[in-house]
Amino acid sequence: MNYKEYIAKKIIECGLPDEGIAENIAVPPNTDMGDYALPCFKFAKVMRKSPVVIAQELAAKITPDNVIAEVLALNGYLNFKINKSSLARETVSKVLSQGESYGSSKMGEGKTICIDYSSVNIAKPFHIGHLSTTVIGGALYKIYNYLGYKVVGINHLGDYGTQFGKLICAYKKWGDKDEVEKGGIHAINDLYVRFNNEATPEMEVEAREYFRLIESGDKEANEIFEWFKSLTLDYVNKIYARLGVKFDSYNGERFYSDKMQPVIDELVEKGLLKESEGAKIVDLEPYGMPPCLILRSDGASLYATRDLAAALYRKNTYDFYKCLYVVAYQQNLHFKQIFKVLELLGKEWAKDMVHVAYGMVSLEDGAMSTRKGKVVWLEDVIEKCVEKAYKVIEDKNPALENKQDIAEKVGIGSVIFGALYNNKIKDIVFSYDKVLSFEGETGVYCQYTCARAYSVLQKACVESFNIPENINLLPQEYEVVRTLASFPEIVVEAGEKYEPSVIARFAVDLSQKFNKFYFDCKILTADDEDTKSFRLALCAATLQTLKNALALLGIGVPEKM
Ligand code: ARG
Repeated sequence: MNYKEYIAKKIIECGLPDEGIAENIAVPPNTDMGDYALPCFKFAKVMRKSPVVIAQELAAKITPDNVIAEVLALNGYLNFKINKSSLARETVSKVLSQGESYGSSKMGEGKTICIDYSSVNIAKPFHIGHLSTTVIGGALYKIYNYLGYKVVGINHLGDYGTQFGKLICAYKKWGDKDEVEKGGIHAINDLYVRFNNEATPEMEVEAREYFRLIESGDKEANEIFEWFKSLTLDYVNKIYARLGVKFDSYNGERFYSDKMQPVIDELVEKGLLKESEGAKIVDLEPYGMPPCLILRSDGASLYATRDLAAALYRKNTYDFYKCLYVVAYQQNLHFKQIFKVLELLGKEWAKDMVHVAYGMVSLEDGAMSTRKGKVVWLEDVIEKCVEKAYKVIEDKNPALENKQDIAEKVGIGSVIFGALYNNKIKDIVFSYDKVLSFEGETGVYCQYTCARAYSVLQKACVESFNIPENINLLPQEYEVVRTLASFPEIVVEAGEKYEPSVIARFAVDLSQKFNKFYFDCKILTADDEDTKSFRLALCAATLQTLKNALALLGIGVPEKM
């Protein structure tokens, strides 16, 4: 049952206009006042009555039933107390019967969402700065899927530009085939760094020529380029596999190199393309933005040109309902410009483009920049977390089997959770000790809570759950029930706000409430059979819901730790 809708129906029966009542019903933070509340201020004007009177009249009209235990008017709010026992029964049985799909919905059926995320640059290191886009995008992918949307994950590869001419030039001069084959991305990156430090003016000229050769389809230049690309992809795919993210398309910037002309033609046709110091631009001054550069004076296209072509291609190919770009806030202006140009081109779907911006991640010692050569590779961060997780597990529980598998789940989980817990626009400082803490607001804490629930269930040896007819709930139990019941709305909220942190926070909240219940209430040694049955079912429902929530973030749950 959807309680908000149930309550809304009761209210509408009393003669209130059927406009967004359910959406206006809120969940008060403190259950003393009620489990649900409708603020009546909005109706004062239409009904020509004060909110206080409206609430009082409604409270008098609605009679409690087996769902609604009590209706109270308080200062212009209409408060509802739910029949706790029926909410508990219903929620717990729903979680247990729906299992892995508890919290999912069909709201997105028939709609497609494109998510451009991770979008790595060929031959460039995958450093800590790429963590957020990869895990935020990966989580949104899973969340929208869960909400019934068709999702297209796009890795808009940075595989176009003069830097590839430089790389080939460096490889030709200093490179060694076996060394590059063996060293992979790191060897390629070294060549790139060396070029930037040591290249002579002649080499710069040569590099431009190599770039031209790639563009004109020269066989050798393209072979080397493709080789670098495949080494980069082999390497990032290993990281993606560990983080549990996947893509449906790897069409990157280069893919659009022959698809830009129609965009340019359309810009000309609509009188939007202007000449400025030899370059071609779209003037955005009326909108308070610098011009959007379309073609350089030498005729070369730009990042923005390829993004415009990509947007049109995506609309044509996927007919998306929304197209998201999970990219750092440093590119705010770029996306504002792109979306504005699409709007000026008369694409009504420009409104469906969303820049999902996020903040910077740095490590505690301040390291992260690639230019200063002080690179922190993402794989090293992951490896270090897994190693540290192993040590912690070894300390806590040396007799555990499969320690390596558990350490992998815990270590990876800590990295993902660390990047997803905060509101995404915040800059974060990544701390190994913090993300791996068993006590803080961490993935490890949630995983440990799951292990605790597993262990109770294992000790109880129950195969199916008996949920008693009448349950006399303690406040600790009721808090868990209420939180479990809110999960489907939490998933929707995370999707609507493009904010996986909503789910991460839910997981911590549920864990905290479960742990309070676990410490305050006897489960296996409960006073009577009914209480024990219900509490075990509550453990199982919590475990299931936590697993579902963590899975949406890409985090696995070990049975023991
Ligand atoms: N490769 C780019 C970068 O590292 C990100 C690309 C984002 N996607 C896009 N369609 N522009 O900055």
